[in-house]
Amino acid sequence: MRSLDVDGQPVSVVGLGCWQFGTRGWGYGSTFGDREAHAIVDRALELGITLFDTAEAYGRGRSERILGAALGPRAGSVFLATKFLPVLPTPGRLVRALERSLTRLGRPQIDLYQLHFPNPVVPLRQQMSGMRRVLDRGLVRHAGVSNYSRRQWLAADRALGRPILSNQVRYNLLQRRAERELIPFAQREGRIVIAYSPLAQGVLGGRYDAATAPRDLRRANPLFTPANLERAAAVLAACRDVGRTHGATPGQVALAYCCSQPGVVVIPGARSVAQVEANAAAADLVLGAEESARLRAAAVAFMPDRRRAAAQLVRRFLSGS
Ligand SMILES: NC(=O)c1ccc[n+]([C@@H]2O[C@H](COP(=O)([O-])OP(=O)(O)OC[C@H]3O[C@@H](n4cnc5c(N)ncnc54)[C@H](OP(=O)(O)O)[C@@H]3O)[C@@H](O)[C@H]2O)c1
Repeated sequence: MRSLDVDGQPVSVVGLGCWQFGTRGWGYGSTFGDREAHAIVDRALELGITLFDTAEAYGRGRSERILGAALGPRAGSVFLATKFLPVLPTPGRLVRALERSLTRLGRPQIDLYQLHFPNPVVPLRQQMSGMRRVLDRGLVRHAGVSNYSRRQWLAADRALGRPILSNQVRYNLLQRRAERELIPFAQREGRIVIAYSPLAQGVLGGRYDAATAPRDLRRANPLFTPANLERAAAVLAACRDVGRTHGATPGQVALAYCCSQPGVVVIPGARSVAQVEANAAAADLVLGAEESARLRAAAVAFMPDRRRAAAQLVRRFLSGS
Protein backbone atom coordinates (compact mmCIF):
# COMPACT_ATOMS: atom_id res chain seq x y z
CA MET A 1 0.00 0.00 0.00
CA ARG A 2 1.37 3.43 -0.95
CA SER A 3 2.07 5.55 2.14
CA LEU A 4 3.29 8.97 3.22
CA ASP A 5 6.12 9.07 5.70
CA VAL A 6 5.38 11.01 8.88
CA ASP A 7 8.48 11.05 11.08
CA GLY A 8 9.26 7.50 10.05
CA GLN A 9 5.68 6.30 10.51
CA PRO A 10 3.83 5.14 7.38
CA VAL A 11 0.44 6.77 6.76
CA SER A 12 -1.37 4.84 4.03
CA VAL A 13 -2.81 7.08 1.31
CA VAL A 14 -6.09 5.17 1.72
CA GLY A 15 -7.14 5.03 5.35
CA LEU A 16 -10.31 3.88 7.04
CA GLY A 17 -12.92 6.40 8.24
CA CYS A 18 -14.77 5.00 11.24
CA TRP A 19 -17.81 7.28 11.58
CA GLN A 20 -19.90 4.35 10.32
CA PHE A 21 -18.97 2.28 13.39
CA GLY A 22 -21.56 2.70 16.13
CA THR A 23 -23.61 5.28 14.19
CA ARG A 24 -27.26 4.32 13.76
CA GLY A 25 -27.73 6.90 11.01
CA TRP A 26 -25.31 4.84 8.89
CA GLY A 27 -27.27 1.66 9.59
CA TYR A 28 -25.09 0.44 12.47
CA GLY A 29 -27.15 -1.99 14.52
CA SER A 30 -29.60 -2.62 11.66
CA THR A 31 -27.79 -3.34 8.37
CA PHE A 32 -24.37 -4.10 9.91
CA GLY A 33 -22.78 -4.25 13.34
CA ASP A 34 -19.84 -5.25 15.55
CA ARG A 35 -19.06 -8.42 13.60
CA GLU A 36 -18.68 -6.52 10.31
CA ALA A 37 -16.74 -3.69 11.99
CA HIS A 38 -14.19 -6.14 13.40
CA ALA A 39 -13.91 -7.94 10.04
CA ILE A 40 -13.45 -4.58 8.22
CA VAL A 41 -10.63 -3.58 10.58
CA ASP A 42 -8.95 -7.02 10.28
CA ARG A 43 -9.08 -6.85 6.50
CA ALA A 44 -7.90 -3.23 6.44
CA LEU A 45 -4.81 -4.24 8.43
CA GLU A 46 -4.14 -7.21 6.14
CA LEU A 47 -4.32 -4.90 3.13
CA GLY A 48 -1.76 -2.50 4.58
CA ILE A 49 -4.08 0.29 5.72
CA THR A 50 -2.32 2.08 8.57
CA LEU A 51 -4.47 5.23 8.95
CA PHE A 52 -7.60 4.90 11.10
CA ASP A 53 -9.77 7.95 11.79
CA THR A 54 -12.46 8.30 14.43
CA ALA A 55 -13.89 11.01 16.73
CA GLU A 56 -15.35 11.32 20.19
CA ALA A 57 -18.55 12.56 18.49
CA TYR A 58 -19.09 9.43 16.35
CA GLY A 59 -21.86 7.41 17.98
CA ARG A 60 -21.08 9.40 21.17
CA GLY A 61 -17.84 7.51 21.73
CA ARG A 62 -19.07 4.15 20.38
CA SER A 63 -16.90 4.43 17.25
CA GLU A 64 -13.75 4.89 19.36
CA ARG A 65 -14.72 1.95 21.57
CA ILE A 66 -15.44 -0.35 18.61
CA LEU A 67 -12.25 0.67 16.79
CA GLY A 68 -10.13 0.22 19.93
CA ALA A 69 -11.58 -3.25 20.54
CA ALA A 70 -11.17 -4.27 16.90
CA LEU A 71 -7.54 -3.13 16.72
CA GLY A 72 -6.55 -4.49 20.14
CA PRO A 73 -2.77 -4.57 20.62
CA ARG A 74 -2.31 -3.93 16.88
CA ALA A 75 -3.29 -0.29 17.54
CA GLY A 76 0.33 0.30 18.52
CA SER A 77 1.51 -0.23 14.96
CA VAL A 78 -0.99 1.97 13.10
CA PHE A 79 -1.46 5.73 12.73
CA LEU A 80 -4.43 6.30 15.01
CA ALA A 81 -6.36 9.56 14.75
CA THR A 82 -9.29 10.88 16.71
CA LYS A 83 -11.00 14.25 17.16
CA PHE A 84 -12.00 16.58 19.95
CA LEU A 85 -15.50 18.08 19.75
CA PRO A 86 -14.66 21.76 20.37
CA VAL A 87 -17.97 22.98 21.75
CA LEU A 88 -16.28 24.68 24.71
CA PRO A 89 -12.62 24.05 23.95
CA THR A 90 -10.89 25.22 27.12
CA PRO A 91 -7.51 23.58 27.81
CA GLY A 92 -8.88 21.55 30.72
CA ARG A 93 -11.80 20.21 28.68
CA LEU A 94 -9.50 19.24 25.80
CA VAL A 95 -7.18 17.32 28.12
CA ARG A 96 -10.09 15.52 29.84
CA ALA A 97 -11.77 14.70 26.50
CA LEU A 98 -8.52 13.21 25.21
CA GLU A 99 -8.12 11.10 28.34
CA ARG A 100 -11.65 9.73 27.82
CA SER A 101 -10.87 9.02 24.14
CA LEU A 102 -7.69 7.16 25.13
CA THR A 103 -9.67 5.05 27.58
CA ARG A 104 -12.27 4.19 24.92
CA LEU A 105 -9.52 3.39 22.40
CA GLY A 106 -7.60 1.38 25.00
CA ARG A 107 -4.38 3.26 24.23
CA PRO A 108 -1.84 5.22 26.28
CA GLN A 109 -1.15 7.52 23.29
CA ILE A 110 -2.51 8.38 19.85
CA ASP A 111 -0.80 9.65 16.72
CA LEU A 112 -3.08 12.51 15.74
CA TYR A 113 -5.51 14.62 17.78
CA GLN A 114 -7.70 16.90 15.69
CA LEU A 115 -9.97 19.80 16.56
CA HIS A 116 -13.14 18.65 14.77
CA PHE A 117 -14.12 22.12 13.53
CA PRO A 118 -13.20 25.75 14.16
CA ASN A 119 -14.66 27.40 17.23
CA PRO A 120 -14.77 31.13 16.46
CA VAL A 121 -15.75 32.12 20.01
CA VAL A 122 -12.93 30.71 22.15
CA PRO A 123 -9.55 32.27 21.23
CA LEU A 124 -7.32 29.90 19.26
CA ARG A 125 -4.49 30.59 21.70
CA GLN A 126 -6.58 29.02 24.46
CA GLN A 127 -7.60 26.02 22.32
CA MET A 128 -4.00 25.39 21.30
CA SER A 129 -2.71 25.69 24.84
CA GLY A 130 -4.71 22.52 25.63
CA MET A 131 -3.26 20.89 22.53
CA ARG A 132 0.28 21.87 23.62
CA ARG A 133 -0.30 20.24 27.00
CA VAL A 134 -1.28 16.87 25.51
CA LEU A 135 1.64 17.01 23.06
CA ASP A 136 4.10 17.85 25.83
CA ARG A 137 2.74 15.07 28.04
CA GLY A 138 3.36 12.63 25.16
CA LEU A 139 -0.31 11.63 24.97
CA VAL A 140 -0.48 12.76 21.35
CA ARG A 141 2.23 12.63 18.66
CA HIS A 142 0.83 15.23 16.24
CA ALA A 143 -1.75 18.02 16.30
CA GLY A 144 -4.37 18.30 13.59
CA VAL A 145 -7.38 20.41 12.70
CA SER A 146 -10.47 19.74 10.65
CA ASN A 147 -12.74 21.93 8.53
CA TYR A 148 -10.24 24.82 8.79
CA SER A 149 -9.55 27.28 5.97
CA ARG A 150 -5.91 27.94 5.05
CA ARG A 151 -6.04 31.20 7.02
CA GLN A 152 -7.36 29.37 10.09
CA TRP A 153 -4.74 26.62 9.65
CA LEU A 154 -1.94 29.23 9.65
CA ALA A 155 -3.46 30.98 12.67
CA ALA A 156 -3.58 27.62 14.49
CA ASP A 157 0.13 27.06 13.68
CA ARG A 158 0.94 30.42 15.24
CA ALA A 159 -1.23 29.77 18.28
CA LEU A 160 0.38 26.37 18.86
CA GLY A 161 3.90 27.64 18.16
CA ARG A 162 4.65 24.69 15.86
CA PRO A 163 3.23 23.35 12.60
CA ILE A 164 -0.14 21.61 12.69
CA LEU A 165 0.43 18.40 10.72
CA SER A 166 -2.93 17.99 9.00
CA ASN A 167 -6.28 19.46 8.10
CA GLN A 168 -9.19 17.05 7.58
CA VAL A 169 -11.65 18.47 5.06
CA ARG A 170 -14.39 17.36 2.68
CA TYR A 171 -12.78 16.53 -0.64
CA ASN A 172 -14.06 14.45 -3.52
CA LEU A 173 -14.62 14.79 -7.26
CA LEU A 174 -17.95 16.58 -6.68
CA GLN A 175 -16.67 18.87 -3.92
CA ARG A 176 -13.21 20.13 -4.86
CA ARG A 177 -12.86 23.32 -2.85
CA ALA A 178 -9.72 21.98 -1.12
CA GLU A 179 -7.90 22.19 -4.46
CA ARG A 180 -7.98 26.01 -4.37
CA GLU A 181 -5.77 26.74 -1.36
CA LEU A 182 -5.48 23.85 1.07
CA ILE A 183 -3.84 21.22 -1.11
CA PRO A 184 -1.29 23.63 -2.65
CA PHE A 185 -0.49 24.85 0.88
CA ALA A 186 -0.05 21.30 2.21
CA GLN A 187 2.18 20.41 -0.73
CA ARG A 188 4.36 23.49 -0.27
CA GLU A 189 4.67 23.07 3.48
CA GLY A 190 4.98 19.29 3.73
CA ARG A 191 1.62 18.97 5.52
CA ILE A 192 -1.26 16.57 4.94
CA VAL A 193 -4.82 17.09 3.74
CA ILE A 194 -6.98 14.24 5.02
CA ALA A 195 -9.91 13.98 2.61
CA TYR A 196 -13.20 13.07 4.26
CA SER A 197 -16.28 11.93 2.34
CA PRO A 198 -13.96 11.03 -0.58
CA LEU A 199 -16.78 8.99 -2.15
CA ALA A 200 -19.21 11.89 -1.62
CA GLN A 201 -20.85 9.67 1.01
CA GLY A 202 -21.48 6.98 -1.59
CA VAL A 203 -22.65 9.03 -4.60
CA LEU A 204 -19.35 8.20 -6.32
CA GLY A 205 -19.78 4.52 -5.48
CA GLY A 206 -22.17 4.58 -8.45
CA ARG A 207 -25.05 2.64 -6.91
CA TYR A 208 -27.53 5.44 -6.41
CA ASP A 209 -30.06 7.32 -8.50
CA ALA A 210 -33.29 9.13 -7.64
CA ALA A 211 -35.14 5.82 -7.14
CA THR A 212 -32.48 4.10 -5.04
CA ALA A 213 -31.12 6.95 -2.87
CA PRO A 214 -30.38 5.73 0.68
CA ARG A 215 -32.90 6.52 3.40
CA ASP A 216 -30.42 7.10 6.22
CA LEU A 217 -28.55 10.16 7.48
CA ARG A 218 -27.69 10.97 3.88
CA ARG A 219 -31.26 12.20 3.33
CA ALA A 220 -29.94 15.50 4.71
CA ASN A 221 -27.07 15.62 2.19
CA PRO A 222 -28.05 17.82 -0.79
CA LEU A 223 -25.94 15.64 -3.11
CA PHE A 224 -28.52 12.87 -2.65
CA THR A 225 -31.51 14.87 -3.94
CA PRO A 226 -32.88 13.62 -7.27
CA ALA A 227 -31.77 16.87 -8.94
CA ASN A 228 -28.14 16.47 -7.90
CA LEU A 229 -27.93 12.71 -8.38
CA GLU A 230 -29.02 13.40 -11.96
CA ARG A 231 -26.29 16.03 -12.39
CA ALA A 232 -23.62 13.80 -10.82
CA ALA A 233 -24.32 11.14 -13.46
CA ALA A 234 -21.90 12.78 -15.94
CA VAL A 235 -19.04 12.65 -13.40
CA LEU A 236 -19.83 9.02 -12.68
CA ALA A 237 -19.83 8.29 -16.40
CA ALA A 238 -16.32 9.79 -16.66
CA CYS A 239 -15.19 7.64 -13.71
CA ARG A 240 -16.68 4.55 -15.38
CA ASP A 241 -14.95 5.31 -18.68
CA VAL A 242 -11.58 5.85 -17.03
CA GLY A 243 -12.07 2.78 -14.85
CA ARG A 244 -12.79 0.53 -17.81
CA THR A 245 -9.15 0.48 -19.02
CA HIS A 246 -7.90 -0.30 -15.50
CA GLY A 247 -10.60 -2.82 -14.57
CA ALA A 248 -11.55 -0.40 -11.77
CA THR A 249 -14.91 0.70 -10.38
CA PRO A 250 -16.04 4.35 -10.50
CA GLY A 251 -15.49 4.57 -6.73
CA GLN A 252 -11.89 3.40 -7.06
CA VAL A 253 -11.24 5.94 -9.79
CA ALA A 254 -12.80 8.71 -7.66
CA LEU A 255 -10.57 7.78 -4.70
CA ALA A 256 -7.46 7.49 -6.88
CA TYR A 257 -8.11 10.97 -8.32
CA CYS A 258 -7.87 12.44 -4.80
CA CYS A 259 -5.11 10.37 -3.23
CA SER A 260 -2.81 10.49 -6.25
CA GLN A 261 -2.15 14.14 -5.39
CA PRO A 262 0.93 14.66 -3.23
CA GLY A 263 0.10 15.40 0.38
CA VAL A 264 -3.46 14.03 0.16
CA VAL A 265 -4.77 10.91 1.89
CA VAL A 266 -8.38 9.69 1.76
CA ILE A 267 -10.37 8.07 4.56
CA PRO A 268 -13.42 6.38 2.98
CA GLY A 269 -15.89 4.82 5.39
CA ALA A 270 -16.93 1.21 4.81
CA ARG A 271 -19.87 -0.94 5.82
CA SER A 272 -18.51 -4.25 4.55
CA VAL A 273 -15.29 -6.12 3.93
CA ALA A 274 -15.92 -5.92 0.17
CA GLN A 275 -16.00 -2.12 0.39
CA VAL A 276 -12.76 -1.81 2.35
CA GLU A 277 -11.10 -4.17 -0.13
CA ALA A 278 -12.26 -2.10 -3.10
CA ASN A 279 -11.19 1.14 -1.43
CA ALA A 280 -7.75 -0.14 -0.44
CA ALA A 281 -7.04 -1.18 -4.03
CA ALA A 282 -7.50 2.44 -5.15
CA ALA A 283 -4.20 3.36 -3.45
CA ASP A 284 -2.23 1.65 -6.19
CA LEU A 285 -4.38 2.74 -9.13
CA VAL A 286 -2.20 5.04 -11.24
CA LEU A 287 -4.13 7.46 -13.43
CA GLY A 288 -2.54 8.95 -16.53
CA ALA A 289 -2.39 12.74 -16.99
CA GLU A 290 -5.08 12.57 -19.68
CA GLU A 291 -7.33 10.50 -17.45
CA SER A 292 -6.98 12.95 -14.55
CA ALA A 293 -7.69 15.82 -16.94
CA ARG A 294 -10.81 14.03 -18.22
CA LEU A 295 -12.05 13.54 -14.64
CA ARG A 296 -11.29 17.15 -13.73
CA ALA A 297 -13.18 18.42 -16.77
CA ALA A 298 -16.27 16.40 -15.81
CA ALA A 299 -15.93 17.60 -12.22
CA VAL A 300 -15.61 21.26 -13.25
CA ALA A 301 -18.80 20.93 -15.31
CA PHE A 302 -20.70 19.56 -12.29
CA MET A 303 -22.84 22.35 -10.86
CA PRO A 304 -25.02 21.23 -7.97
CA ASP A 305 -28.58 22.49 -8.22
CA ARG A 306 -28.80 24.34 -4.92
CA ARG A 307 -32.28 25.81 -5.29
CA ARG A 308 -34.10 22.67 -6.45
CA ALA A 309 -32.06 20.57 -3.99
CA ALA A 310 -33.09 22.83 -1.09
CA ALA A 311 -36.77 22.55 -2.09
CA GLN A 312 -36.46 18.76 -2.39
CA LEU A 313 -34.83 18.51 1.04
CA VAL A 314 -37.61 20.60 2.62
CA ARG A 315 -40.29 18.44 0.93
CA ARG A 316 -38.50 15.30 2.14
CA PHE A 317 -38.34 16.69 5.67
CA LEU A 318 -42.03 17.73 5.72
CA SER A 319 -43.28 14.44 4.31
CA GLY A 320 -41.03 12.44 6.65
CA SER A 321 -40.05 10.20 3.76
N1 LIG B 1 -13.95 15.84 9.95
C1 LIG B 1 -15.20 15.85 9.59
O1 LIG B 1 -15.94 16.83 9.81
C2 LIG B 1 -15.77 14.62 8.92
C3 LIG B 1 -17.03 14.66 8.31
C4 LIG B 1 -17.47 13.49 7.67
C5 LIG B 1 -16.70 12.34 7.66
N2 LIG B 1 -15.49 12.34 8.29
C6 LIG B 1 -14.61 11.13 8.29
O2 LIG B 1 -14.45 10.70 6.94
C7 LIG B 1 -14.86 9.33 6.80
C8 LIG B 1 -15.44 9.12 5.44
O3 LIG B 1 -16.44 10.07 5.10
P1 LIG B 1 -17.99 9.68 4.93
O4 LIG B 1 -18.29 8.47 5.70
O5 LIG B 1 -18.75 10.94 5.21
O6 LIG B 1 -18.16 9.44 3.36
P2 LIG B 1 -17.51 8.45 2.26
O7 LIG B 1 -16.32 7.80 2.78
O8 LIG B 1 -17.41 9.28 1.05
O9 LIG B 1 -18.70 7.40 2.02
C9 LIG B 1 -18.84 6.28 2.83
C10 LIG B 1 -20.00 5.44 2.33
O10 LIG B 1 -19.82 5.15 0.94
C11 LIG B 1 -20.25 3.81 0.66
N3 LIG B 1 -19.08 3.06 0.16
C12 LIG B 1 -17.90 2.81 0.82
N4 LIG B 1 -17.07 2.10 0.07
C13 LIG B 1 -17.71 1.88 -1.11
C14 LIG B 1 -17.36 1.20 -2.29
N5 LIG B 1 -16.18 0.62 -2.43
N6 LIG B 1 -18.27 1.18 -3.31
C15 LIG B 1 -19.48 1.77 -3.18
N7 LIG B 1 -19.86 2.43 -2.07
C16 LIG B 1 -18.99 2.48 -1.04
C17 LIG B 1 -20.76 3.24 1.98
O11 LIG B 1 -22.16 3.50 2.11
P3 LIG B 1 -23.33 2.61 1.41
O12 LIG B 1 -22.78 1.26 1.17
O13 LIG B 1 -24.42 2.64 2.40
O14 LIG B 1 -23.67 3.38 0.17
C18 LIG B 1 -20.05 4.08 3.01
O15 LIG B 1 -20.72 4.14 4.23
C19 LIG B 1 -15.83 9.11 7.98
O16 LIG B 1 -15.93 7.75 8.32
C20 LIG B 1 -15.17 9.94 9.07
O17 LIG B 1 -14.10 9.20 9.64
C21 LIG B 1 -15.00 13.47 8.89
